Amino acid sequence: MDHYVITGGTRLEGVVPISGSKNAALAIVAAAMVLDGPCRIDNLPEVRDINLLLEICQSIGATIEFEKPGTVFIDATTINTHEATEPIVSSLRGSYYLMGALLGRFGKAKTSMPGGCNFGNRPIDLHLKGFAALGASSDVTYGHVNLECSKLKGGSVFLDQVSVGATVNIMLAACKAEGLTVIDNAAREPHIVDLANFLNTMGADIRGAGTDVIRINGKATLPANKDYMIIPDQIEAGTYMMLAPLTRGDITVTNVIPKHMEPLTAKLLEMGSTVEEGEDSIRVIHDASTPLVGTSFKTMPYPGYPTDLQPQATCLLCFAEGGGRMIENVWENRYQFVDDLKKMGASILISGRLAVVQKAVLTGASVKANDLRAGAAMVMAGLMALGETRVFDIIRIERGYEKFIEKLKGIGAKIERESVLVP
Ligand code: EPZ
Repeated sequence: MDHYVITGGTRLEGVVPISGSKNAALAIVAAAMVLDGPCRIDNLPEVRDINLLLEICQSIGATIEFEKPGTVFIDATTINTHEATEPIVSSLRGSYYLMGALLGRFGKAKTSMPGGCNFGNRPIDLHLKGFAALGASSDVTYGHVNLECSKLKGGSVFLDQVSVGATVNIMLAACKAEGLTVIDNAAREPHIVDLANFLNTMGADIRGAGTDVIRINGKATLPANKDYMIIPDQIEAGTYMMLAPLTRGDITVTNVIPKHMEPLTAKLLEMGSTVEEGEDSIRVIHDASTPLVGTSFKTMPYPGYPTDLQPQATCLLCFAEGGGRMIENVWENRYQFVDDLKKMGASILISGRLAVVQKAVLTGASVKANDLRAGAAMVMAGLMALGETRVFDIIRIERGYEKFIEKLKGIGAKIERESVLVP
């Protein structure tokens, strides 16, 4: 069983090139399945979730050609089924975008219920509400979602709760529906804007992405036959930026969009870091003589503080003067990793959505990656804990962090990957 072995206490310094956004790439690869011509996608992160989704697309007949690292040629015109029910479909969350894509392509779809990180209930009621607004009936039987309609017609839907996934899925179906679709209370994340830009490049007519009202004028065909480059990964960049205050280091992330990082940059300034923004880079410096000041975080949909940087910030607060507080407003149970932080000596009190963190000395231990971002937080803890930390279930980390160990070693981290034969 592969795991990381980390020796804590090293100041990290250097440059980290940021990869393409995993969550934008998942939506855009799925969106390619609704097109009526080929496309080429650049800057795809080479991570397990993207490779799995591409494999699923091939399994339904799409032509996928890997031209060079990070670049793929996709032709959805060879798709030969509206059903994506292979067991692999349930192994990741992003596969549920095929509901919207296949519904948009065929007017019907049958997909397995999605998988994804385990931090509480992950319903799809808002997705189904959106599909119903377009005239599709839905039922969930035997673990499959069945969608059907005589003809997709534009409609209006108000999302009771801001949902990235529901916003994406409704966009994918609506871009081929007849007439205008309006999504109200839509998600505003950078990957939503990237998806809209991709679809518009391929011939769609989507306006308002990045605001809470998105308008989609459906098209009979999306000719595509264009290239598109995925935006940088906001969450990967944020994870590495936090290593500067954590280790009192000096980290520069390149290939980033500073605007996307503002929710985190503001908090790092509060905690005493120096932040220098370039056109497509951010440098974070926090020298040993500057205290790491505790503060409060509250996760919210973009442009609020991202929930996908919550575990990392909760870990960082363990080393801050006066500790701090975290309120997790998006997911009902995203503190499962705290038990493993406590194994390392963390002093954290959880009450519902609130975590009260006190400064503590962490010592190395054997811990696990409960999910993708929690795993990154455990690695962060190991980078500052006394002694040696072993992080298991690292496959969950490598689902979403490209070249994770290489990038960490590149800035001086003492981290190795070890395999242990499980008897
Ligand atoms: C996406 O998940 C991301 N995953 C998650 O990132 C991220 O945490 C989340 O958005 C929030 O930003 C991908 O993009 C693949 P939601 P998603 O629908 O779409 C409730 C990572 O680390 N909800 O925005 O599943 C839901 O329970 C992953 O990269 C409903 O009630 O999240 C949650 O409380 C982890 N009904 C809230 O909305 C629905 O039909 C936000 O969920 C859908 C969602």
